[in-house]
Amino acid sequence: MTIAPLSGQLSCDARAVVNAEQIRIWNEVNAARWLKLRGPLTATLTPYGEAAMDALAPRRGERLLDVGCGFGETTTELARRSGNVLGVDVVQQFLEIARAEAAPGASYLLADAQTHRFEERFDGIYSRFGLMFFEDPAAAFANLRSALRPSGRLAAVVWGPPEDNEWSGLPMQVLRRHMPVREPGRGPGPFGLSDRAALARLLAGAGFVRADVAPLRLPFAADVSVLLQTGVAAAALREAGPEGERLRPQLEQELREAIGGRAVEGVALLVQASAPAVDTPRRIQ
Ligand SMILES: C[S@@+](CC[C@H](N)C(=O)[O-])C[C@H]1O[C@@H](n2cnc3c(N)ncnc32)[C@H](O)[C@@H]1O
Repeated sequence: MTIAPLSGQLSCDARAVVNAEQIRIWNEVNAARWLKLRGPLTATLTPYGEAAMDALAPRRGERLLDVGCGFGETTTELARRSGNVLGVDVVQQFLEIARAEAAPGASYLLADAQTHRFEERFDGIYSRFGLMFFEDPAAAFANLRSALRPSGRLAAVVWGPPEDNEWSGLPMQVLRRHMPVREPGRGPGPFGLSDRAALARLLAGAGFVRADVAPLRLPFAADVSVLLQTGVAAAALREAGPEGERLRPQLEQELREAIGGRAVEGVALLVQASAPAVDTPRRIQ
């Protein structure tokens, strides 16, 4: 694993490179796919992100943080509403695009949101599917909580359980007819926070109050080509190498038949919580 160049650029604790594997995956594997599929992926995720944006209800003048901001699309919307937002991500390539397209009032930071010591306090923290990749979610959520002002709000979406998410399950079913496919893990990754009760406990343990975690069922609007380039299916096809590429047109056809023209669904969890009204000292990590 080569993480030295990244740790050199990243504003994270140099004593131990936390989240090294996810930082490597996002930079070396996922970034190219997200750059290629930016349009369709953004279109798919937009309705989920809007639900979290409405839950946060940003107000003019508030200082906001967008965690795992990617290309900064949601950061732009937060800037439009509040005029003052910081987007944080671990992929330099994403942030270069975000900075080039930055809206007035938006700025960006290359840093690991789990370990970065935010010197300022935010009125609100937002994330569209950027919170599921922490090795130590308890430490990450405690860090984010301590970056909020008293009564500051958190609103985010993460994916719900894999068995409820057809966009992941249907491609897996089709692929399994042809190749080995691993079950999606519950560690750092798309389904890392998919256990609703565990997520509520995590928020409480990190010092959040008024925590609410509610399922959010929406159409996952993506064509078969995109579905086979996301999540576990993408990993299985990558591992299958040239044989996977040879099979791709057939897999797309089989997936089209399995879907049968209906709308594929995705179940996210809409997360809302607040920092306590009375400030508590930052947790020492
Ligand atoms: C599923 S993408 C979502 C991107 C963006 N929020 C969107 O909706 O388009 C997850 C993002 O989280 C970022 N990420 C992963 N681990 C992170 C960490 N520890 N700190 C900050 N960002 C992280 C990834 O680089 C990636 O941009």
